[in-house]
Amino acid sequence: MAQYIIKGGKRAEGEVTISGSKNAALPIIAASILNAGKTTLYNVPNIHDTQMMFEILKKLGGKVTKKNNKIIIETNQINKYEIPEDLMRQMRSSVILAGALLGKRRTATFSYPGGCDIGTRPIDLHLKAFEKLGINIEQNYGKIACSCDKIIGKKIDLDFPSVGATENAILASCMAEGKTIITNAAREPEIVDLQNFLNKMGAKIKGAGANTIEIEGVKTLKDVSYNIMPDRIETGTFLCIAAATNGNMILKDVDTEHITPIIHKLEETGCKLNIEKRKIEIQTPKKLKAIDIKTMPYPGFPTDMQSIFVSMLTIAKGTSVVVENIFENRYKFTRRTSKNGSKNKYRRKNSNNKRCTKAIWHKCKSNRPKRGSSFSISRNYGKRNNNN
Ligand code: UD1
Repeated sequence: MAQYIIKGGKRAEGEVTISGSKNAALPIIAASILNAGKTTLYNVPNIHDTQMMFEILKKLGGKVTKKNNKIIIETNQINKYEIPEDLMRQMRSSVILAGALLGKRRTATFSYPGGCDIGTRPIDLHLKAFEKLGINIEQNYGKIACSCDKIIGKKIDLDFPSVGATENAILASCMAEGKTIITNAAREPEIVDLQNFLNKMGAKIKGAGANTIEIEGVKTLKDVSYNIMPDRIETGTFLCIAAATNGNMILKDVDTEHITPIIHKLEETGCKLNIEKRKIEIQTPKKLKAIDIKTMPYPGFPTDMQSIFVSMLTIAKGTSVVVENIFENRYKFTRRTSKNGSKNKYRRKNSNNKRCTKAIWHKCKSNRPKRGSSFSISRNYGKRNNNN
């Protein structure tokens, strides 16, 4: 679909079933390379990024079949080890294929994924983890060629709990000789989902969800079927849409344990949440209260929810203070507020730390996303407000 036309002025209400998680699906699709066999996945979200990942797998020699609600991936014929540059540039997360290719085939060539609109997004931590595992890295005109005869388990201490670097280190080491220990690992639920998937395939990994992950290398992995976890960012987005439009909503197939910081912040705005293990109901007040937010690595408040909360908070009573600590460029969406006919009053302060930017939002309206989401929220509110 090329465009969405949003006619605002309505409460967003009803029941929604949450899709599988994009950020869990991508590394799991990459991990299907490791068994050189058959992987059956359920609950894969049908979105551009997962389709791109399938395209890359096919280009490497893999086979992907869609049957009803399941995806079957066959990786026994994979015979190419270079991730095509054009696809790599389109989707930064394709760098995760490097760990899987190295883990199984001991060779991977890829290019720098480049920066994107939320920040520079370097991959130095991924490369450092590979080097620790004894992998040779040669860089030539933006191409990175990684190879080794064998991978030997080592201690990898990450300078920052990077989600992608943690995943790449797990993928590269799960068929290594001996034990790998990753310290200062990212603790995101998607890493736990990757561990669960790989262990079901026959890997020996423990500790995901905590700071230290231990991987005992195995020689072979088997065919596997797996159900991808629910998307916590989609869950949070629907809750914010309800809150911004004074709607009541029931969300099903969620994992409420993954969204604790989102729930706490929504409760601070005055929303009431009725929480069960796989279901959540939100009742929203007529007027939201302003709140303060600082994005942090999990289990802190997720950076992926920042712009969505900002859009919602522009209609809250009072001033909200939002601090982005993960990506230095994640306030870009505020620049186009005039197109939305709104007055966005916000002040921005840069701290010494490049990752930390502080913005103070006054009572106002604004637009644009975590891509479309926060835009839709402000647009819907805008129309509602105009009608009032
Ligand atoms: C993943 C998520 C993304 C989310 C982010 C943070 C996927 C597909 N994407 O992205 O939606 O916003 O986690 O929760 O799962 N960094 C370095 N060097 C590196 C790697 C990262 O300096 O080698 C920095 C980044 O620039 C950023 C911070 O570390 O400032 C966090 O990045 P990281 O956790 O790696 O995010 P991604 O895995 O890219």
